[in-house]
Amino acid sequence: MTMIELETVNLEIDGPKATIYLNRPDKKNAMNPQMHQDMNEVLDNIEADGGVRAVVVTGNGDSFSSGMDLEECFLKPFDDPQLFYRTNLVALKWFQRLKAFDAVTIAKVNGFAFGGGFLVTGLCDLAIADEAALFGLSEINFGIFPAGGATWAATHNLARKQALYYILTGDTMTGAQAEQYGLVNKAVPADRLDEETDRLVKKIVRKNPVTLALAKQVYERTTMLDLPAAIDYDQAKLWELSRLSGNEWINVALKQFEKRSYQPGLSTYTRSEQQS
Ligand code: COA
Repeated sequence: MTMIELETVNLEIDGPKATIYLNRPDKKNAMNPQMHQDMNEVLDNIEADGGVRAVVVTGNGDSFSSGMDLEECFLKPFDDPQLFYRTNLVALKWFQRLKAFDAVTIAKVNGFAFGGGFLVTGLCDLAIADEAALFGLSEINFGIFPAGGATWAATHNLARKQALYYILTGDTMTGAQAEQYGLVNKAVPADRLDEETDRLVKKIVRKNPVTLALAKQVYERTTMLDLPAAIDYDQAKLWELSRLSGNEWINVALKQFEKRSYQPGLSTYTRSEQQS
């Protein structure tokens, strides 16, 4: 087990699972410039590890994140355009890295998830929330629209009327509503949040990591393509997958099926240590 403790973020790597803890609990895990730097650093560390297949993002204390630090990211640097630009560029960098990350990303949402907290939930591939967690795009309440990817997160995780409702009213939604609207996969009572997230992580880490990464790429690109282009793209990616994984799907998975040692409809094939 590797533990890395930065000023505002802690990282735990336990085999194929990494957990990122936002760690400014007394500020409800508001993301200040230091946290944005720390997030880039922990993503570097996870990439350098090379063996991580699932990344859980969560908050220490009673909040996931109250979003961008309104004082340190907006109020203080605003009068210096270059400083404002540079400060926020660091945030925009890790948001985009998280969205395109090779490993599967899972938001484990405890407590408040406002603005940037909503955004990070929306950027992650999967999300489990405390049913009493509170999500909101509060930007309209202080006179701006959700930016830095937050409008993207709303439009890509909610249906149009729901996205516009939350963008335009700044109302909050609970974890239970977030499940209903599709922002999170599942909402559970707070005391089951760890267990439910671990259950999901266990399913993910049994899969072939190359396949996981390419499945994400194919999904993301396919949302932008018509059917003929999507098929062209997925066929090319299938050959890429075959090459990168040493034809594991044919040589291992389907051979096991041929011997009737497992049923792919119901479970995952057994990968040897060498393959992982
Ligand atoms: N930026 C900077 N500081 C923040 C913050 C943010 N986004 N959210 C909370 N904090 C700070 C508070 O200023 C307070 O600091 P202090 O103890 O030094 O006074 C501390 O965190 C605790 O917050 P507090 O408001 O006392 O807790 P609460 O439980 O009553 O309310 C919130 C929590 C999240 C509802 C409230 O702080 C809030 O509305 N925050 C702003 C949320 C937001 O609009 N985020 C969008 C940013 S894009």
